Amino acid sequence: MAASKVLGIDIGGSGIKGALVDIEKGAFASHRLRIPTPTPSTVDNVAQVVAEIVAEFQDDNDAKVLGVTYPGVVQRGVTKSAANFDSSFVGAHAQDVFAQQCGIPVTLVNDADAAGLAEVRYGAAKDHAGLVIMTTLGTGIGTALIYDGVLIPNAELGHLEIDGVDYETKAASRWRDEEHLTWDEYIPRLQRYYETLERLLTPDLIVVGGGISKLADQFLPHLKLSTPIVPAKLRNKAGIIGAAVYAVPAN
Ligand code: BGC
Repeated sequence: MAASKVLGIDIGGSGIKGALVDIEKGAFASHRLRIPTPTPSTVDNVAQVVAEIVAEFQDDNDAKVLGVTYPGVVQRGVTKSAANFDSSFVGAHAQDVFAQQCGIPVTLVNDADAAGLAEVRYGAAKDHAGLVIMTTLGTGIGTALIYDGVLIPNAELGHLEIDGVDYETKAASRWRDEEHLTWDEYIPRLQRYYETLERLLTPDLIVVGGGISKLADQFLPHLKLSTPIVPAKLRNKAGIIGAAVYAVPAN
């Protein structure tokens, strides 16, 4: 029988969060445990926190595998960037380090890729054909490309250079807070970002996630795009759910 409860862990800059996921329903099957991200956020320190979360749930983790997200590029288990993490992550086989520390097989995936996969399986882009672009607006901009349900990993389109700058430094939602931007000041940045994505990739659907997506009514209706653009449905559960889905290969 296929395992239906799988542990997913979402590594973020301030917290590391885990829960069991019912991958048939795409919903949490347990409480969520959050542990603050350690300082310094070295691979070994983060691995210890991941192992603490595994220990909490191990009796009910049917699949005996673990899916983990990381907020940077991940290629075949190797973390290749570390924007908000300790530089020990750059070039580390973090997937193996986590697996050794936890004693179970681990699949490591970029955080936006996990969120995108979850939205396509169960959320705002459920069963959507063609090219779906997931974008998460937060401290940075995470992006995922999913074509006919298949993920093309590590699309780092938050770093598109637009008007001469890495546009994550303009349109990530942190700048709305840090620069105290009004919607009238922030929306043009989103317009510039999304119209560029649309021009370069001609997606069939764009999904907007990250904490700000709960305020979607304030900004989505003001964007002038020809592509449908919708708020994420799974919100801050998407990373954990996507990590769990990604960890079960036959899924
Ligand atoms: C990173 C991405 C990540 C995104 C959201 C960006 O700065 O380059 O890999 O998905 O932040 O965490």
